[in-house]
Amino acid sequence: MITTGKYPNLRLRRNRKNDWIRRLTKENALSVDDLVQPIFIIEGKNKKIPIKSMPGVFRYSLDKVNHLVKGLIKIGIPMIAIFPYVEKKYKNIHGSEALNENNLVCRATRTIKKKFKDKIGIMCDVALDPYTSHGHDGIIKSNQIDNDLTLKILSKQAVIQARAGCDVIAPSDMMDGRIAIIRKALDENNFNSVSILSYAVKYASSYYGPFRDAVGSKKLLKGDKKTYQMDYSNSDEALREVSMDIKEGADMVMVKPGLPYLDIISDVKKKFKIPVFAYQVSGEYSLIMNSIKNGTVNEKIILETLMSFKRAGANAIVTYFASKIAKKL
Ligand code: PBG
Repeated sequence: MITTGKYPNLRLRRNRKNDWIRRLTKENALSVDDLVQPIFIIEGKNKKIPIKSMPGVFRYSLDKVNHLVKGLIKIGIPMIAIFPYVEKKYKNIHGSEALNENNLVCRATRTIKKKFKDKIGIMCDVALDPYTSHGHDGIIKSNQIDNDLTLKILSKQAVIQARAGCDVIAPSDMMDGRIAIIRKALDENNFNSVSILSYAVKYASSYYGPFRDAVGSKKLLKGDKKTYQMDYSNSDEALREVSMDIKEGADMVMVKPGLPYLDIISDVKKKFKIPVFAYQVSGEYSLIMNSIKNGTVNEKIILETLMSFKRAGANAIVTYFASKIAKKL
């Protein structure tokens, strides 16, 4: 501790006495460079469909996507995360639509890449849950989510997404060993410059409810995801997960959800000195949105919350508020 003197010589309020000195002594900053905007896409034409559980968030058809992305580039958002609403007819127990080079995510990625090249990064989730009829992230065998069987499919899904133009592969499935096998598959297919952002620490959380509604897996999900996503009572285990994924080749790691896990973000950053992303998930978004007063969202609450991620040590934040708040920064 470096403190000199004591009251009345020492007065910490001197550093807060007006705006210019508060600006000079500010310890953390939030900028548009910190924000990742998730976007939801849907089949069809000329569609912008509100998502009931996430006020202010829409599903867009592909003909509307480039216009949307153009606006995000204009305000300086560095990366988008693409999530598909998959119609029931494309879902089955194997999640085989994940391996269709012409699935919605691949088409969206190609459309955006073709138009905007490297003006914005594209991140895609690797996991089977949008595509499985049971809503789980992996393949079910003998009533279990089979880890090793799932890995084979995930590594193919990653290569297909990279081929479509995805810059950042983001495995969100929580299978063991996925980072190594995905890295290997990407490298063998000449995608050694495609990054991996591992959802290394993903908790089995009740905060994902609105998202599952947004991608159309909520009603389908049988049981819970506790055999692969983490128990929210645990923090040592989070460090083991991160350590494992770094050894396997993760370039960046994610902690998810965000606000209830600031301690984990801080621990991971301090221990591993790797780029850490926080995911302010759908349930966190909806909580804030539902506190709307007189028709306006309290932007100060959003800013204060986003800064808490920076203070905890996050480099970037995946947030449904990205574009709204970027305009205020
Ligand atoms: C899919 C996935 C989920 C989210 C991102 N990718 C849901 C889940 O694991 O059930 C949640 C995002 C959010 O709630 O905003 N594996």
